[in-house]
Amino acid sequence: MAASFTVCRLHMIGRGSLAKCLQKVDTFLHRNIGTNVVAVQEEKNGFKSLYAVQAERQEQAERSVLISCHSRTNEKKFLKHMSKHGDIKKYFFYESYGMYAVVEYANQESVASLFEGTAIPSISHESLVPFKSRLLSLRSLDSADLPNQPSGKKRQAQTSIPINELIQRLAKEESIDQQITSLTEAYQLTEENCRLRFLVCSLLKDIAAAFFPECTIKPFGSSVNGFGKLGCDLDMFLDLDSISGRNATMPKSGLLLEYQMKRANSERNVTQNILSVIGECVDQFGPGCVGVQKILNARCPLVRFAHQPSGFQCDLTANNRVAMKSTELLYLYGELDPRVRHLVFTVRCWARAHSITSSIPGAWISNFSLTVMVLFFLQRRSPPIIPTLDHLRDLAGPEDKSVIEDNDCTFVSDFTKIQLESNTETLEQLLCEFFEFYAAFSFRTRSINIRKGKEQNKPEVAPLHIQNPFETTLNVSKNVNATQLDRFVALCQESSWLLQQNKTAQSGVGTKGKAITPWGLSTLLLPSQVAAIKSRKRRKWEPASERIKSLLESLKDNNNQQNKS
Ligand code: GTP
Ligand code: MG
Repeated sequence: MAASFTVCRLHMIGRGSLAKCLQKVDTFLHRNIGTNVVAVQEEKNGFKSLYAVQAERQEQAERSVLISCHSRTNEKKFLKHMSKHGDIKKYFFYESYGMYAVVEYANQESVASLFEGTAIPSISHESLVPFKSRLLSLRSLDSADLPNQPSGKKRQAQTSIPINELIQRLAKEESIDQQITSLTEAYQLTEENCRLRFLVCSLLKDIAAAFFPECTIKPFGSSVNGFGKLGCDLDMFLDLDSISGRNATMPKSGLLLEYQMKRANSERNVTQNILSVIGECVDQFGPGCVGVQKILNARCPLVRFAHQPSGFQCDLTANNRVAMKSTELLYLYGELDPRVRHLVFTVRCWARAHSITSSIPGAWISNFSLTVMVLFFLQRRSPPIIPTLDHLRDLAGPEDKSVIEDNDCTFVSDFTKIQLESNTETLEQLLCEFFEFYAAFSFRTRSINIRKGKEQNKPEVAPLHIQNPFETTLNVSKNVNATQLDRFVALCQESSWLLQQNKTAQSGVGTKGKAITPWGLSTLLLPSQVAAIKSRKRRKWEPASERIKSLLESLKDNNNQQNKS
Protein backbone atom coordinates (compact mmCIF):
# COMPACT_ATOMS: atom_id res chain seq x y z
CA MET A 1 0.00 0.00 0.00
CA ALA A 2 1.39 3.34 -1.02
CA ALA A 3 1.39 5.62 1.97
CA SER A 4 2.75 9.12 2.19
CA PHE A 5 3.08 10.35 5.73
CA THR A 6 2.76 14.06 6.27
CA VAL A 7 3.99 15.49 9.53
CA CYS A 8 3.10 18.92 10.72
CA ARG A 9 1.77 20.26 14.00
CA LEU A 10 -1.73 21.62 14.22
CA HIS A 11 -2.28 25.11 15.47
CA MET A 12 -5.65 26.72 15.71
CA ILE A 13 -4.77 30.15 16.92
CA GLY A 14 -5.87 33.46 15.55
CA ARG A 15 -7.49 34.42 12.31
CA GLY A 16 -9.05 31.75 10.16
CA SER A 17 -8.43 29.17 12.87
CA LEU A 18 -11.11 26.66 11.96
CA ALA A 19 -10.50 27.22 8.27
CA LYS A 20 -6.74 26.86 8.69
CA CYS A 21 -7.34 23.73 10.68
CA LEU A 22 -8.86 22.21 7.56
CA GLN A 23 -5.64 22.69 5.68
CA LYS A 24 -3.29 21.18 8.18
CA VAL A 25 -2.55 17.62 8.96
CA ASP A 26 -1.87 16.49 12.47
CA THR A 27 1.42 15.07 13.61
CA PHE A 28 0.47 11.78 15.08
CA LEU A 29 -2.95 10.94 13.97
CA HIS A 30 -3.41 11.92 10.39
CA ARG A 31 -1.68 10.41 7.48
CA ASN A 32 -2.35 11.20 3.89
CA ILE A 33 -2.55 7.93 2.17
CA GLY A 34 -2.37 7.52 -1.58
CA THR A 35 -3.79 10.94 -2.37
CA ASN A 36 -2.63 14.37 -1.33
CA VAL A 37 -4.63 16.61 0.94
CA VAL A 38 -6.86 18.79 -1.20
CA ALA A 39 -5.71 22.35 -0.78
CA VAL A 40 -8.54 24.40 0.59
CA GLN A 41 -9.03 27.67 -1.17
CA GLU A 42 -9.46 30.25 1.52
CA GLU A 43 -11.55 33.26 0.82
CA LYS A 44 -10.34 36.84 0.60
CA ASN A 45 -7.78 37.87 3.20
CA GLY A 46 -7.46 34.37 4.58
CA PHE A 47 -11.01 34.34 5.96
CA LYS A 48 -13.42 31.59 5.28
CA SER A 49 -17.09 31.92 6.16
CA LEU A 50 -18.58 29.47 8.63
CA TYR A 51 -20.94 28.39 5.88
CA ALA A 52 -18.03 27.37 3.63
CA VAL A 53 -16.22 25.61 6.47
CA GLN A 54 -19.34 23.68 7.38
CA ALA A 55 -20.05 22.61 3.80
CA GLU A 56 -16.54 21.23 3.45
CA ARG A 57 -16.63 19.43 6.78
CA GLN A 58 -20.02 17.89 5.99
CA GLU A 59 -18.73 16.56 2.73
CA GLN A 60 -15.70 15.04 4.48
CA ALA A 61 -17.95 13.45 7.09
CA GLU A 62 -20.10 11.76 4.47
CA ARG A 63 -17.03 9.96 3.15
CA SER A 64 -16.07 8.78 6.62
CA VAL A 65 -16.85 5.78 8.80
CA LEU A 66 -16.50 5.26 12.54
CA ILE A 67 -15.12 1.92 13.66
CA SER A 68 -15.02 0.38 17.10
CA CYS A 69 -11.71 -1.48 17.28
CA HIS A 70 -10.06 -3.79 19.69
CA SER A 71 -7.64 -1.81 21.83
CA ARG A 72 -4.82 -3.88 20.37
CA THR A 73 -5.80 -3.69 16.75
CA ASN A 74 -2.92 -4.22 14.36
CA GLU A 75 -2.76 -0.86 12.64
CA LYS A 76 -1.07 -2.01 9.43
CA LYS A 77 -3.45 -4.88 8.92
CA PHE A 78 -6.39 -2.64 9.69
CA LEU A 79 -5.35 -0.10 7.07
CA LYS A 80 -4.68 -2.78 4.52
CA HIS A 81 -8.15 -4.16 5.09
CA MET A 82 -9.82 -0.77 4.91
CA SER A 83 -7.94 0.35 1.79
CA LYS A 84 -9.27 -2.64 -0.17
CA HIS A 85 -12.37 -0.49 -0.63
CA GLY A 86 -10.64 2.63 -1.90
CA ASP A 87 -8.08 5.32 -1.12
CA ILE A 88 -8.04 6.38 2.49
CA LYS A 89 -7.57 10.10 2.76
CA LYS A 90 -7.13 10.36 6.50
CA TYR A 91 -7.58 8.29 9.59
CA PHE A 92 -7.03 8.56 13.30
CA PHE A 93 -7.59 6.53 16.44
CA TYR A 94 -9.09 7.84 19.63
CA GLU A 95 -10.33 6.51 22.93
CA SER A 96 -13.83 6.87 24.35
CA TYR A 97 -15.16 3.91 26.31
CA GLY A 98 -12.91 1.77 24.11
CA MET A 99 -10.77 2.31 21.06
CA TYR A 100 -12.23 3.82 17.90
CA ALA A 101 -10.95 4.76 14.47
CA VAL A 102 -12.27 7.41 12.10
CA VAL A 103 -11.48 6.60 8.48
CA GLU A 104 -12.10 9.12 5.73
CA TYR A 105 -12.14 7.74 2.19
CA ALA A 106 -11.27 9.84 -0.83
CA ASN A 107 -14.57 8.88 -2.50
CA GLN A 108 -18.00 8.15 -1.18
CA GLU A 109 -18.27 5.01 -3.34
CA SER A 110 -15.68 3.43 -1.05
CA VAL A 111 -18.19 3.56 1.81
CA ALA A 112 -20.72 1.67 -0.31
CA SER A 113 -18.05 -0.88 -1.21
CA LEU A 114 -17.12 -1.24 2.46
CA PHE A 115 -20.77 -1.92 3.29
CA GLU A 116 -20.84 -4.74 0.74
CA GLY A 117 -18.10 -6.53 2.63
CA THR A 118 -19.59 -5.82 6.07
CA ALA A 119 -21.37 -8.63 7.88
CA ILE A 120 -24.44 -8.57 10.14
CA PRO A 121 -23.34 -9.78 13.58
CA SER A 122 -24.58 -13.22 14.47
CA ILE A 123 -25.88 -13.06 18.01
CA SER A 124 -27.95 -15.94 19.26
CA HIS A 125 -29.15 -14.67 22.65
CA GLU A 126 -30.38 -11.21 21.53
CA SER A 127 -32.37 -9.76 18.65
CA LEU A 128 -31.04 -6.99 16.44
CA VAL A 129 -32.63 -3.95 14.83
CA PRO A 130 -31.50 -4.34 11.21
CA PHE A 131 -30.47 -0.69 10.75
CA LYS A 132 -27.14 -0.42 8.95
CA SER A 133 -25.09 2.66 9.72
CA ARG A 134 -21.52 3.89 9.25
CA LEU A 135 -20.75 2.93 12.82
CA LEU A 136 -19.04 -0.45 12.45
CA SER A 137 -17.18 -2.90 14.66
CA LEU A 138 -13.92 -4.53 13.76
CA ARG A 139 -13.52 -8.17 14.63
CA SER A 140 -10.34 -10.10 14.25
CA LEU A 141 -10.79 -13.64 13.01
CA ASP A 142 -7.08 -14.43 13.57
CA SER A 143 -5.50 -14.71 16.96
CA ALA A 144 -2.07 -13.46 15.82
CA ASP A 145 -3.14 -9.83 15.30
CA LEU A 146 -2.08 -8.31 18.53
CA PRO A 147 1.40 -6.80 18.12
CA ASN A 148 2.05 -3.49 16.37
CA GLN A 149 -0.93 -1.84 18.00
CA PRO A 150 -1.43 1.93 17.72
CA SER A 151 0.98 3.33 20.28
CA GLY A 152 -0.03 5.71 23.08
CA LYS A 153 0.94 8.65 20.90
CA LYS A 154 -1.52 7.79 18.21
CA ARG A 155 -4.47 7.61 20.55
CA GLN A 156 -5.96 10.85 21.53
CA ALA A 157 -8.34 11.45 24.36
CA GLN A 158 -11.22 13.71 23.35
CA THR A 159 -11.47 15.51 26.68
CA SER A 160 -9.50 18.45 28.03
CA ILE A 161 -6.76 18.13 30.64
CA PRO A 162 -7.78 18.33 34.32
CA ILE A 163 -7.70 21.79 35.88
CA ASN A 164 -4.83 20.97 38.27
CA GLU A 165 -2.69 19.88 35.34
CA LEU A 166 -3.59 23.08 33.52
CA ILE A 167 -2.65 25.19 36.55
CA GLN A 168 0.76 23.51 36.63
CA ARG A 169 1.24 23.96 32.89
CA LEU A 170 0.38 27.65 33.05
CA ALA A 171 2.66 28.22 36.02
CA LYS A 172 5.61 27.30 33.78
CA GLU A 173 4.88 30.07 31.28
CA GLU A 174 6.83 33.29 31.44
CA SER A 175 4.13 35.88 30.95
CA ILE A 176 0.41 36.19 31.48
CA ASP A 177 -0.01 36.62 27.73
CA GLN A 178 1.71 33.27 27.21
CA GLN A 179 -0.44 31.70 29.91
CA ILE A 180 -3.55 32.85 28.10
CA THR A 181 -2.43 31.48 24.73
CA SER A 182 -1.31 28.25 26.37
CA LEU A 183 -4.73 27.86 27.99
CA THR A 184 -6.42 28.29 24.61
CA GLU A 185 -4.13 25.71 23.03
CA ALA A 186 -4.79 23.20 25.80
CA TYR A 187 -8.56 23.58 25.74
CA GLN A 188 -9.65 24.32 22.18
CA LEU A 189 -11.14 21.64 19.98
CA THR A 190 -8.60 19.65 18.03
CA GLU A 191 -8.80 18.89 14.33
CA GLU A 192 -9.82 15.29 15.15
CA ASN A 193 -12.48 16.41 17.57
CA CYS A 194 -13.99 18.75 14.95
CA ARG A 195 -14.05 15.92 12.43
CA LEU A 196 -15.69 13.60 14.92
CA ARG A 197 -18.41 16.17 15.63
CA PHE A 198 -19.28 16.48 11.94
CA LEU A 199 -19.20 12.70 11.56
CA VAL A 200 -21.69 12.24 14.43
CA CYS A 201 -24.00 14.79 12.73
CA SER A 202 -23.64 12.87 9.49
CA LEU A 203 -24.49 9.55 11.21
CA LEU A 204 -27.57 11.17 12.72
CA LYS A 205 -28.53 12.55 9.34
CA ASP A 206 -28.61 8.99 7.99
CA ILE A 207 -31.37 8.24 10.52
CA ALA A 208 -33.36 11.42 9.81
CA ALA A 209 -32.93 10.86 6.06
CA ALA A 210 -35.24 7.84 6.30
CA PHE A 211 -38.06 10.43 6.53
CA PHE A 212 -36.46 13.52 5.00
CA PRO A 213 -33.89 12.44 2.39
CA GLU A 214 -32.86 16.04 1.59
CA CYS A 215 -32.30 17.10 5.18
CA THR A 216 -28.95 18.02 6.68
CA ILE A 217 -27.86 17.97 10.30
CA LYS A 218 -25.45 20.78 11.11
CA PRO A 219 -23.51 21.39 14.29
CA PHE A 220 -23.92 24.82 15.86
CA GLY A 221 -22.92 26.51 19.12
CA SER A 222 -19.46 26.00 20.55
CA SER A 223 -18.71 22.96 18.32
CA VAL A 224 -18.24 25.38 15.43
CA ASN A 225 -18.25 28.98 16.71
CA GLY A 226 -14.52 28.87 17.53
CA PHE A 227 -15.04 28.90 21.32
CA GLY A 228 -15.53 25.17 21.88
CA LYS A 229 -13.60 23.43 24.61
CA LEU A 230 -12.74 19.74 24.38
CA GLY A 231 -15.62 17.90 25.98
CA CYS A 232 -18.27 20.55 25.18
CA ASP A 233 -21.71 19.34 24.12
CA LEU A 234 -22.65 18.81 20.49
CA ASP A 235 -25.54 21.07 19.48
CA MET A 236 -27.16 19.90 16.27
CA PHE A 237 -29.69 21.51 14.01
CA LEU A 238 -31.94 19.45 11.74
CA ASP A 239 -32.17 21.64 8.66
CA LEU A 240 -35.28 20.99 6.58
CA ASP A 241 -35.13 24.28 4.67
CA SER A 242 -34.60 22.57 1.32
CA ILE A 243 -37.94 20.76 1.83
CA SER A 244 -39.90 23.50 3.60
CA GLY A 245 -40.37 25.63 0.50
CA ARG A 246 -39.10 28.61 2.49
CA ASN A 247 -36.54 29.54 -0.13
CA ALA A 248 -38.39 28.25 -3.20
CA THR A 249 -39.14 30.48 -6.17
CA MET A 250 -42.55 29.96 -7.79
CA PRO A 251 -43.27 30.20 -11.53
CA LYS A 252 -45.63 33.10 -12.35
CA SER A 253 -47.85 31.24 -14.85
CA GLY A 254 -48.64 27.76 -16.21
CA LEU A 255 -49.45 24.58 -14.36
CA LEU A 256 -47.79 23.61 -11.11
CA LEU A 257 -47.79 20.36 -9.19
CA GLU A 258 -47.59 20.59 -5.41
CA TYR A 259 -46.95 17.94 -2.80
CA GLN A 260 -49.86 17.19 -0.55
CA MET A 261 -48.63 17.51 2.98
CA LYS A 262 -50.11 16.95 6.40
CA ARG A 263 -51.05 20.19 8.15
CA ALA A 264 -50.37 21.15 11.75
CA ASN A 265 -51.52 23.97 14.04
CA SER A 266 -48.23 25.84 14.16
CA GLU A 267 -44.61 25.64 13.15
CA ARG A 268 -43.77 24.79 16.75
CA ASN A 269 -46.15 21.86 16.52
CA VAL A 270 -44.44 20.63 13.35
CA THR A 271 -41.03 20.90 15.02
CA GLN A 272 -42.27 18.98 18.07
CA ASN A 273 -43.78 16.21 15.92
CA ILE A 274 -40.66 15.83 13.79
CA LEU A 275 -38.34 15.78 16.80
CA SER A 276 -40.61 13.32 18.57
CA VAL A 277 -40.44 10.83 15.69
CA ILE A 278 -36.72 11.29 15.05
CA GLY A 279 -36.03 11.09 18.79
CA GLU A 280 -37.90 7.79 18.85
CA CYS A 281 -35.83 6.48 15.90
CA VAL A 282 -32.59 7.59 17.54
CA ASP A 283 -33.67 5.79 20.70
CA GLN A 284 -34.87 2.60 18.99
CA PHE A 285 -32.52 2.32 16.02
CA GLY A 286 -29.50 4.58 16.59
CA PRO A 287 -26.41 2.46 17.34
CA GLY A 288 -24.45 3.93 20.23
CA CYS A 289 -27.18 6.46 21.14
CA VAL A 290 -28.24 6.09 24.77
CA GLY A 291 -30.26 7.97 27.37
CA VAL A 292 -32.55 9.61 24.81
CA GLN A 293 -34.80 12.30 26.30
CA LYS A 294 -37.38 14.21 24.30
CA ILE A 295 -37.64 17.70 25.77
CA LEU A 296 -40.37 18.96 23.49
CA ASN A 297 -42.03 21.56 25.71
CA ALA A 298 -38.88 23.68 26.10
CA ARG A 299 -38.81 27.14 24.44
CA CYS A 300 -36.63 25.46 21.88
CA PRO A 301 -37.78 21.80 21.65
CA LEU A 302 -34.92 19.31 21.57
CA VAL A 303 -33.89 15.67 21.77
CA ARG A 304 -31.01 15.06 24.18
CA PHE A 305 -28.92 11.89 24.21
CA ALA A 306 -25.42 10.60 24.72
CA HIS A 307 -23.52 9.29 21.72
CA GLN A 308 -21.35 6.69 23.37
CA PRO A 309 -18.81 5.99 20.60
CA SER A 310 -17.79 9.65 20.49
CA GLY A 311 -18.49 10.45 24.13
CA PHE A 312 -20.51 13.53 23.08
CA GLN A 313 -23.56 14.78 24.90
CA CYS A 314 -25.87 15.70 22.03
CA ASP A 315 -28.76 18.16 21.72
CA LEU A 316 -30.74 17.84 18.51
CA THR A 317 -33.01 20.76 17.61
CA ALA A 318 -34.99 21.72 14.53
CA ASN A 319 -36.25 25.07 13.31
CA ASN A 320 -33.59 26.85 15.35
CA ARG A 321 -32.24 29.18 12.71
CA VAL A 322 -31.69 32.10 15.09
CA ALA A 323 -29.19 29.99 17.05
CA MET A 324 -27.41 29.21 13.77
CA LYS A 325 -27.16 32.96 13.17
CA SER A 326 -25.78 33.55 16.69
CA THR A 327 -23.21 30.87 15.98
CA GLU A 328 -22.20 32.60 12.73
CA LEU A 329 -21.94 35.92 14.55
CA LEU A 330 -19.75 34.53 17.33
CA TYR A 331 -17.57 32.80 14.74
CA LEU A 332 -17.15 36.10 12.87
CA TYR A 333 -16.17 37.99 16.03
CA GLY A 334 -13.69 35.24 16.93
CA GLU A 335 -12.05 35.47 13.52
CA LEU A 336 -11.71 39.26 13.54
CA ASP A 337 -8.99 39.46 16.18
CA PRO A 338 -7.14 36.58 17.90
CA ARG A 339 -7.54 38.31 21.27
CA VAL A 340 -11.29 37.63 21.13
CA ARG A 341 -10.88 33.84 21.23
CA HIS A 342 -8.11 33.97 23.81
CA LEU A 343 -10.12 36.11 26.15
CA VAL A 344 -13.31 34.09 25.71
CA PHE A 345 -11.43 30.83 26.38
CA THR A 346 -9.79 32.27 29.47
CA VAL A 347 -12.98 33.72 30.91
CA ARG A 348 -14.94 30.52 30.16
CA CYS A 349 -12.26 28.41 31.81
CA TRP A 350 -12.06 30.72 34.82
CA ALA A 351 -15.86 30.67 35.17
CA ARG A 352 -15.96 26.87 35.00
CA ALA A 353 -13.16 26.52 37.57
CA HIS A 354 -15.27 28.57 40.01
CA SER A 355 -18.59 26.90 39.12
CA ILE A 356 -19.99 30.16 37.76
CA THR A 357 -21.02 28.08 34.76
CA SER A 358 -22.23 24.51 34.88
CA SER A 359 -23.14 21.74 32.48
CA ILE A 360 -26.40 21.31 34.42
CA PRO A 361 -29.16 23.79 33.51
CA GLY A 362 -30.06 26.16 36.36
CA ALA A 363 -29.60 29.70 37.63
CA TRP A 364 -25.98 29.82 36.45
CA ILE A 365 -24.59 32.16 33.82
CA SER A 366 -24.37 30.21 30.53
CA ASN A 367 -21.27 30.07 28.38
CA PHE A 368 -23.22 31.86 25.68
CA SER A 369 -24.06 34.76 28.06
CA LEU A 370 -20.46 34.88 29.24
CA THR A 371 -19.22 35.06 25.65
CA VAL A 372 -21.59 37.94 24.92
CA MET A 373 -20.24 39.70 28.04
CA VAL A 374 -16.68 39.36 26.73
CA LEU A 375 -17.73 40.68 23.32
CA PHE A 376 -19.46 43.63 24.93
CA PHE A 377 -16.37 44.41 27.00
CA LEU A 378 -14.22 44.34 23.84
CA GLN A 379 -16.64 46.72 22.11
CA ARG A 380 -16.25 49.09 25.07
CA ARG A 381 -12.46 49.37 24.82
CA SER A 382 -11.03 52.60 23.59
CA PRO A 383 -10.53 52.23 20.69
CA PRO A 384 -12.93 49.27 20.38
CA ILE A 385 -11.41 45.90 19.46
CA ILE A 386 -14.54 44.65 17.71
CA PRO A 387 -17.42 46.53 16.05
CA THR A 388 -21.03 46.61 17.22
CA LEU A 389 -23.64 44.33 15.65
CA ASP A 390 -25.43 47.39 14.27
CA HIS A 391 -22.23 48.34 12.45
CA LEU A 392 -21.94 44.81 11.03
CA ARG A 393 -25.55 45.11 9.86
CA ASP A 394 -24.82 48.46 8.18
CA LEU A 395 -21.95 46.86 6.23
CA ALA A 396 -24.17 44.01 4.97
CA GLY A 397 -24.94 43.63 1.27
CA PRO A 398 -28.26 42.42 -0.24
CA GLU A 399 -26.95 38.83 -0.19
CA ASP A 400 -26.60 39.02 3.60
CA LYS A 401 -30.24 39.93 4.25
CA SER A 402 -31.73 37.57 6.77
CA VAL A 403 -35.04 37.90 8.59
CA ILE A 404 -36.03 35.00 10.81
CA GLU A 405 -39.47 35.02 12.41
CA ASP A 406 -39.61 38.83 12.07
CA ASN A 407 -36.18 39.25 13.67
CA ASP A 408 -33.56 41.11 11.67
CA CYS A 409 -30.55 38.78 11.65
CA THR A 410 -28.68 40.60 8.90
CA PHE A 411 -24.95 41.23 9.23
CA VAL A 412 -22.04 41.37 6.85
CA SER A 413 -20.52 38.08 5.71
CA ASP A 414 -17.65 39.57 3.71
CA PHE A 415 -14.95 40.01 6.35
CA THR A 416 -12.93 42.31 4.10
CA LYS A 417 -15.54 45.06 4.46
CA ILE A 418 -14.83 45.26 8.20
CA GLN A 419 -12.25 47.87 9.17
CA LEU A 420 -10.83 47.31 12.63
CA GLU A 421 -9.48 50.09 14.81
CA SER A 422 -5.90 49.86 15.98
CA ASN A 423 -6.14 48.83 19.60
CA THR A 424 -2.83 47.40 20.84
CA GLU A 425 -3.76 46.27 24.34
CA THR A 426 -2.16 43.05 25.50
CA LEU A 427 -4.07 39.99 26.64
CA GLU A 428 -2.89 40.60 30.18
CA GLN A 429 -4.24 44.16 30.17
CA LEU A 430 -7.51 43.01 28.69
CA LEU A 431 -8.01 40.22 31.21
CA CYS A 432 -7.31 42.57 34.08
CA GLU A 433 -9.61 45.22 32.64
CA PHE A 434 -12.33 42.64 32.01
CA PHE A 435 -12.47 41.81 35.71
CA GLU A 436 -12.40 45.47 36.69
CA PHE A 437 -15.10 46.32 34.16
CA TYR A 438 -17.56 43.75 35.49
CA ALA A 439 -16.55 44.22 39.13
CA ALA A 440 -17.84 47.78 38.79
CA PHE A 441 -20.67 47.31 36.27
CA SER A 442 -24.12 48.66 37.29
CA PHE A 443 -25.94 45.39 36.88
CA ARG A 444 -28.80 46.76 38.99
CA THR A 445 -29.93 49.27 36.40
CA ARG A 446 -28.05 48.57 33.17
CA SER A 447 -28.37 46.02 30.40
CA ILE A 448 -25.59 44.62 28.17
CA ASN A 449 -26.24 45.21 24.49
CA ILE A 450 -23.78 44.10 21.78
CA ARG A 451 -26.06 45.40 19.03
CA LYS A 452 -25.46 48.96 20.16
CA GLY A 453 -22.15 48.34 21.95
CA LYS A 454 -23.51 50.44 24.80
CA GLU A 455 -25.08 49.84 28.16
CA GLN A 456 -28.83 50.50 28.14
CA ASN A 457 -31.42 50.90 30.85
CA LYS A 458 -32.81 47.56 31.85
CA PRO A 459 -36.18 47.02 30.16
CA GLU A 460 -37.31 44.48 32.78
CA VAL A 461 -36.53 43.33 36.29
CA ALA A 462 -33.88 40.61 36.23
CA PRO A 463 -30.59 40.46 38.14
CA LEU A 464 -28.61 40.17 34.90
CA HIS A 465 -29.92 41.55 31.63
CA ILE A 466 -28.11 40.71 28.39
CA GLN A 467 -30.10 41.59 25.33
CA ASN A 468 -30.48 38.71 22.89
CA PRO A 469 -28.59 39.98 19.81
CA PHE A 470 -31.27 38.93 17.33
CA GLU A 471 -34.46 38.44 19.31
CA THR A 472 -34.02 41.83 20.90
CA THR A 473 -36.99 41.65 23.27
CA LEU A 474 -35.44 38.65 25.01
CA ASN A 475 -32.87 38.44 27.79
CA VAL A 476 -30.31 35.65 27.22
CA SER A 477 -29.52 35.52 30.94
CA LYS A 478 -33.09 35.45 32.21
CA ASN A 479 -32.30 32.29 34.19
CA VAL A 480 -29.56 33.92 36.31
CA ASN A 481 -30.48 34.65 39.92
CA ALA A 482 -29.07 37.33 42.24
CA THR A 483 -26.85 34.88 44.13
CA GLN A 484 -25.10 33.72 40.97
CA LEU A 485 -24.61 37.29 39.78
CA ASP A 486 -23.19 38.27 43.17
CA ARG A 487 -20.72 35.39 43.01
CA PHE A 488 -19.66 36.49 39.55
CA VAL A 489 -19.08 40.07 40.69
CA ALA A 490 -17.23 39.00 43.84
CA LEU A 491 -15.00 36.71 41.79
CA CYS A 492 -14.29 39.50 39.30
CA GLN A 493 -13.21 41.71 42.21
CA GLU A 494 -11.02 39.01 43.68
CA SER A 495 -9.48 38.05 40.33
CA SER A 496 -8.73 41.65 39.45
CA TRP A 497 -6.94 42.05 42.79
CA LEU A 498 -5.11 38.74 42.40
CA LEU A 499 -3.83 39.67 38.95
CA GLN A 500 -2.45 42.94 40.32
CA GLN A 501 -0.51 41.01 42.98
CA ASN A 502 0.63 38.21 40.72
CA LYS A 503 1.95 39.87 37.62
CA THR A 504 5.31 38.19 37.52
CA ALA A 505 6.48 34.59 37.53
CA GLN A 506 7.36 33.46 41.04
CA SER A 507 10.76 32.20 41.99
CA GLY A 508 11.15 28.46 42.34
CA VAL A 509 9.88 27.71 38.85
CA GLY A 510 10.33 24.03 38.56
CA THR A 511 13.46 22.14 38.93
CA LYS A 512 12.62 18.65 37.85
CA GLY A 513 10.11 16.85 40.04
CA LYS A 514 9.53 19.94 42.22
CA ALA A 515 6.21 21.66 42.51
CA ILE A 516 5.82 24.90 40.63
CA THR A 517 4.26 27.85 42.38
CA PRO A 518 1.17 29.04 40.55
CA TRP A 519 1.25 32.67 39.51
CA GLY A 520 -0.66 35.04 37.23
CA LEU A 521 -3.54 33.34 35.44
CA SER A 522 -2.95 30.01 37.18
CA THR A 523 -3.69 31.61 40.57
CA LEU A 524 -7.05 32.74 39.24
CA LEU A 525 -8.02 29.14 38.58
CA LEU A 526 -7.37 28.02 42.16
CA PRO A 527 -10.40 27.48 44.39
CA SER A 528 -11.74 30.72 45.80
CA GLN A 529 -13.38 31.61 49.07
CA VAL A 530 -15.84 34.00 47.49
CA ALA A 531 -17.88 31.01 46.37
CA ALA A 532 -19.16 30.98 49.93
CA ILE A 533 -20.41 34.55 49.74
CA LYS A 534 -24.17 34.52 49.82
CA SER A 535 -24.79 38.17 49.13
CA ARG A 536 -22.79 41.27 48.35
CA LYS A 537 -24.78 43.08 50.99
CA ARG A 538 -23.97 40.66 53.75
CA ARG A 539 -20.24 40.66 53.32
CA LYS A 540 -18.00 43.21 51.72
CA TRP A 541 -15.25 41.90 49.50
CA GLU A 542 -11.74 42.53 50.80
CA PRO A 543 -8.29 41.62 49.49
CA ALA A 544 -7.54 38.25 51.03
CA SER A 545 -3.78 37.93 51.00
CA GLU A 546 -3.81 35.40 53.84
CA ARG A 547 -6.38 33.30 52.07
CA ILE A 548 -4.46 33.36 48.80
CA LYS A 549 -1.28 32.42 50.62
CA SER A 550 -2.97 29.43 52.16
CA LEU A 551 -4.41 28.40 48.80
CA LEU A 552 -0.97 28.48 47.23
CA GLU A 553 0.41 26.47 50.15
CA SER A 554 -2.29 23.85 49.82
CA LEU A 555 -1.57 23.48 46.11
CA LYS A 556 2.13 23.04 46.84
CA ASP A 557 1.32 20.40 49.46
CA ASN A 558 -0.85 18.57 46.96
CA ASN A 559 1.94 18.56 44.43
CA ASN A 560 4.50 17.41 46.93
CA GLN A 561 2.26 14.53 47.88
CA GLN A 562 1.72 13.64 44.23
CA ASN A 563 5.46 13.71 43.57
CA LYS A 564 6.10 11.42 46.52
CA SER A 565 3.48 8.87 45.50
P1 GTP B 1 -21.22 25.28 25.58
O1 GTP B 1 -22.11 24.22 25.04
O2 GTP B 1 -21.52 25.60 26.99
O3 GTP B 1 -19.78 25.04 25.31
O4 GTP B 1 -21.53 26.66 24.79
P2 GTP B 1 -22.53 26.93 23.59
O5 GTP B 1 -22.16 28.25 23.00
O6 GTP B 1 -22.59 25.77 22.67
O7 GTP B 1 -23.91 27.10 24.35
P3 GTP B 1 -25.23 26.22 24.34
O8 GTP B 1 -24.92 24.78 24.08
O9 GTP B 1 -25.96 26.56 25.59
O10 GTP B 1 -26.06 26.83 23.14
C1 GTP B 1 -25.74 26.57 21.79
C2 GTP B 1 -25.93 27.81 20.98
O11 GTP B 1 -27.30 28.19 21.03
C3 GTP B 1 -25.16 29.04 21.42
O12 GTP B 1 -23.85 29.10 20.95
C4 GTP B 1 -26.00 30.14 20.85
O13 GTP B 1 -25.70 30.30 19.48
C5 GTP B 1 -27.39 29.59 21.00
N1 GTP B 1 -27.97 30.02 22.28
C6 GTP B 1 -27.85 29.46 23.48
N2 GTP B 1 -28.56 30.13 24.42
C7 GTP B 1 -29.14 31.12 23.75
C8 GTP B 1 -30.02 32.16 24.14
O14 GTP B 1 -30.42 32.31 25.30
N3 GTP B 1 -30.41 32.99 23.15
C9 GTP B 1 -29.98 32.85 21.87
N4 GTP B 1 -30.37 33.70 20.94
N5 GTP B 1 -29.17 31.89 21.47
C10 GTP B 1 -28.76 31.04 22.39
MG1 MG C 1 -23.18 23.85 23.29
